[in-house]
Amino acid sequence: MAQIKLTNVQKAYGPVEVLKNINLELESGDFTVFVGPSGCGKSTLLRMIAGLESITAGTLEINGMVMNDVPPAQRGIAMVFQSYALYPHMTVAENMAFALKIAKKKPAEIDEAIQHAGEILQLSHLLERLPKELSGGQRQRVAIGRAIVRNPSVFLFDEPLSNLDAALRVQTRLEIANLHDSLSASMIYVTHDQVEAMTLASKIVLLNAGEAVQKEGSIAQVGPPLELYHNPATRFVAGFIGSPKMNFIAGEILEATAQQATIQLCNGSKVHAAVDATSAAKGAKIELGIRPEHLHSGESEGDDVLGKVSYVERLGEVSYLYLHVEGHDGLVTARNDGDSPFNPGDSVSLQVPVGKCHLFDSNGKAFPRLAR
Ligand SMILES: Nc1ncnc2c1ncn2[C@@H]1O[C@H](COP(=O)(O)OP(=O)(O)OP(=O)(O)O)[C@@H](O)[C@H]1O
Ligand SMILES: [Mg+2]
Repeated sequence: MAQIKLTNVQKAYGPVEVLKNINLELESGDFTVFVGPSGCGKSTLLRMIAGLESITAGTLEINGMVMNDVPPAQRGIAMVFQSYALYPHMTVAENMAFALKIAKKKPAEIDEAIQHAGEILQLSHLLERLPKELSGGQRQRVAIGRAIVRNPSVFLFDEPLSNLDAALRVQTRLEIANLHDSLSASMIYVTHDQVEAMTLASKIVLLNAGEAVQKEGSIAQVGPPLELYHNPATRFVAGFIGSPKMNFIAGEILEATAQQATIQLCNGSKVHAAVDATSAAKGAKIELGIRPEHLHSGESEGDDVLGKVSYVERLGEVSYLYLHVEGHDGLVTARNDGDSPFNPGDSVSLQVPVGKCHLFDSNGKAFPRLAR
C-alpha cells in the first residue's frame, strides 16, 4: 500500500486552475522531490498534503486513510519551511520543544527528543542560544530539528536550502540525505533546482507549467532521476533535467527503421539516431535533442554538424563552447576539455553519437530511445 496516495487531485483559486489531474503514489521510505518552474504549484501541492491548503477536488490518502479534511497536526507529518519560522525569543531547545509542549508530552520525553535531534544535527552545543545568535545554516538545522523531535512518518520540505550560500547548500544537502538514511522516514522535498532534485531524490515528480497543464495535467513525468535524464517523455522534461540544458535542433525524418532513424537537420547535415521513429511519416518535422556533454567537438568523422564558436566559458575542469549552427536560432552548447583549444571564430565539427540522441515530434513528445 502506498503511504501517500493522491487521486485526481485538483487545486483552483477561484477561476484559476493551479493543479490538475494529480495522480501519485509515494511509498514508505521514498525521498520524493517535487520540481518544476516557478509558479507551477509545487508549494501548493506540498501544502495540500500538509493540510495547510484545502483540496479543491480529488482525494488525499495517508496510510490508507482519507485525509482531505483532517487537521495538519493529526496527519503524522512535519513541515520545514524556506523561511525557518523560528520563534525569535525562544532558545534553540525551546524552539524544538514547542510543538511537544503543546502536545502535552512529559518533560523527560521532550528533553530526550531534543538531545537526540541535537546530536543528529550537531546542535548540542547551541541549545541555549537564541536564533539571532546562529548562522543561516544553523537556523536551518534548528528548523529541521523542530520537525525531527515530532518523529513524523513523513517530512515535508519546501525549498529548505534556498537561503543558504552555495557551499552551505551542498553541505546541508548532504546532511538531509544522511538524515533520510538514518531516520528511514519518507520525505517530500520541493525545489526548483534540478541539481537538488537529481542528487536527493529516489523519485522525481516533475510538474508542468503553462499551457501543458491544460493539455496533459500537472504532472509531466515521475521516475528515478536517471530515468528522467535518459528517457525524458517530453521535450519539456528533457530541457528541465540536465545542466547545461539539452540542445534542440530542428530537422526532418528521412528514414525510420526499427533500429534507427535518419534525420536531416536544419543546416543540411544528415544524422543517425538510435530511436524508434517508425510511427512518424517520412518528412515529418522533428527536433533532435542532444546534451552538451554528448556533443564531441573535434575532427570531422561522418555524422557531424558544423558549428562556429561564438564564445567559450572556461570553468577550469571543463569548457563550454557556444556555437552558431546554420539555420538554427540561438546557440548550440557543447562541453569540451578544460583546456579546450577552441576560441571564438573557430569552426568546429560536432559529432552526434547515434546512441545519445533524443527525438521529439512536433507536439514535443519523445520517440522511444533504443540505447542509453
Ligand atoms: N492564495 C492564492 N490565490 C491565488 N493564486 C495563488 C494563491 N497562492 C498561489 N497562487 C498561484 O498558484 C500558483 C502556484 O503557486 P506555488 O506557490 O505553489 O508555486 P511554486 O511552484 O511553489 O513556485 P516557486 O518555485 O516560485 O515557489 C502560482 O501561479 C500562484 O500565483
Ligand atoms: Mg514554492
